[in-house]
Amino acid sequence: MSDSLYREQILEHWRTPQNFGKLVHPTHEAFENNPLCGDEIGIHLNVNNHVVGDIRFYGVGCAISMAATSMLTEIILGKKIEELKKIKKEDVFNLLGVMPSPSRVKCALLGLSTFKKALQIFEQTE
Ligand code: FES
Repeated sequence: MSDSLYREQILEHWRTPQNFGKLVHPTHEAFENNPLCGDEIGIHLNVNNHVVGDIRFYGVGCAISMAATSMLTEIILGKKIEELKKIKKEDVFNLLGVMPSPSRVKCALLGLSTFKKALQIFEQTE
């Protein structure tokens, strides 16, 4: 895909974020903010038998943070925790299709760090 198509995809996820909202009874949840700008993202999970059966995210952020988190939730849904523990920042950059500038790296990774926090909480409660 060309850079402009990737940018269009980012804007599409920002305009229509997937899995946006909150779960009524999440089994696990986490909340993180970007200290540089104060933007915040929360993630709700429903984990059953070590599989993420449902996921939602909510919060306020820039287009990159919202789009990256929206894309991330799409790949998290339905996967096993063991598999999800392997997700790394490069995977998020691949989803975005463009390498964020140094000042936007934290934006791109806000959703991932929130999800990693939720995974930690999951492990602590196992
Ligand atoms: Fe706040 Fe991007 S400017 S997360």
